[in-house]
Amino acid sequence: MNAIIIFLCFIFVIHPISCQLIQERYDATSIIKDDMLYVLGGQDQNDKPISEILSLNITTSLNVDSPPWSRSLKAPPLAFELSGAFHGGANNDSIYVICGLMNDPASGANINNEQTLLEYDTQKDVWTRTAMASAPQLNGRVKFALLSDNKGMVYLHGGYNYYNYTYLGDTYSFDISSITWTPLPSPQTPIIAADFASVLLNDGRLVIIGGYEQPENGTLVHRPISQLDMFNTIDKTWTRQTVSQPKEMSDHRRYHTSTLLPNGDIVIIGGIDVVPNVVILETTKNQWRIPVVSGIEPPLLNQHCAELVENRYIFIMFGKRADGQNSNKLFILDTENYSWITSPKNKVLLSTVALVFSILLFGTSVSLYKRRKNRLANVTIQAENVSMSENVDSHTNIMVYPNEESHKIKDRKFRIFSNK
Ligand SMILES: *[C@@H]1O[C@H](CO)[C@@H](O)[C@H](O)[C@H]1NC(C)=O
Ligand SMILES: *[C@@H]1O[C@H](CO)[C@@H](O)[C@H](O)[C@H]1NC(C)=O
Ligand SMILES: *[C@@H]1O[C@H](CO)[C@@H](O)[C@H](O)[C@H]1NC(C)=O
Ligand SMILES: *[C@@H]1O[C@H](CO)[C@@H](O)[C@H](O)[C@H]1NC(C)=O
Ligand SMILES: *[C@@H]1O[C@H](CO)[C@@H](O)[C@H](O)[C@H]1NC(C)=O
Repeated sequence: MNAIIIFLCFIFVIHPISCQLIQERYDATSIIKDDMLYVLGGQDQNDKPISEILSLNITTSLNVDSPPWSRSLKAPPLAFELSGAFHGGANNDSIYVICGLMNDPASGANINNEQTLLEYDTQKDVWTRTAMASAPQLNGRVKFALLSDNKGMVYLHGGYNYYNYTYLGDTYSFDISSITWTPLPSPQTPIIAADFASVLLNDGRLVIIGGYEQPENGTLVHRPISQLDMFNTIDKTWTRQTVSQPKEMSDHRRYHTSTLLPNGDIVIIGGIDVVPNVVILETTKNQWRIPVVSGIEPPLLNQHCAELVENRYIFIMFGKRADGQNSNKLFILDTENYSWITSPKNKVLLSTVALVFSILLFGTSVSLYKRRKNRLANVTIQAENVSMSENVDSHTNIMVYPNEESHKIKDRKFRIFSNK
């Protein structure tokens, strides 16, 4: 009996849902490829770059209390933070990582003497490091815009050089298949900015939202949230547009994330010293809107990751809280009705382990019941006290959860797979 309970506990404990402790981090890079959400690199508690890749299968059931992150993928050859990622490769199986701060994980030495292209082949679980001969300053460039059109072209704008804190206003396209960088025009007054959020709209316009700007006189200024700078990647022109905003929302924002929804809304989450946490830029109406958000509001985060799952759920991961502590948490915003939820609704709420667990429990109960019944049959034949055998029988039920600990396991199982 004890052996069975130990076995069940063991099964439960070895599963990542219950036991994995995921290190807090911020300034990581996230990307989705098919079923998998990857979180690459980032900074740890000691502000050191991380050489780790986390993955999460977004097609399986999950709960924000214990997302089943896997750490089993091959570690990148460099530790990195504040980098950008995009898809590509021969069969579109690769994830590329460029820019940011890159370190040798063994020596901790900065890699600032080459322009590094890291490629992770998601099928082969293999990393490749390439030094690009002809590329703009990439290593050391942080807080930039890096957006892919998912047709083989990537756009890079701005950021600042971490090593000499110089703000940058340059724009490039990068052809993934030929590994070619092409400089693109700047607007009449260059946008020398960083710390903004950016999206590539479906019509090919790259939008820059918020952040800091270094005008040509050198003084850093907040970029107003009502001022959108856009680069049209089709005709290669810049435009500036003013959008109306409710007065209740902060008129500037940095270290926030931006997520484009299929209806053209851009959902902005987090930032430093801003209200409210969630605001929406309605690109079709040219206005900012504050949504009514239900559910348990997560702490205001900055330097976090955001990914859109199933065109509906925004996964907010890791980052820094307002009190300066790093986070290892996952929060999910359902954009259907703007509520913070603990588990996506339409997922099958039984993971393999829950299934195995339930089958084992069921099997154990049935076999115990049968064994007990057989024994009871003998007891009943041999002794005449039927009420005593009933006691034994009810005792069997208790035996499946004989102490506090296993009750906790049972509760936990229920909590994980309930879908509030
Ligand atoms: C490559 O894969 C990504 C992620 O699955 C997808 O969004 C993108 O459209 C794909 N690109 C091409 C050219 O197939
Ligand atoms: C993700 O989970 C689904 C459902 O459990 C499974 O069919 C699929 O193979 C998994 N994908 C990967 C890449 O592991
Ligand atoms: C900052 O560093 C980059 C290369 O690391 C260099 O190209 C640039 O000229 C430097 N800027 C200043 C103002 O020193
Ligand atoms: C620098 O330029 C900004 C924007 O053009 C302006 O608001 C600011 O007053 C200027 N600062 C100085 C010291 O000239
Ligand atoms: C929003 O949708 C979620 C998931 O479908 C649901 O649990 C929640 O009750 C809804 N909230 C509101 C305020 O309608």
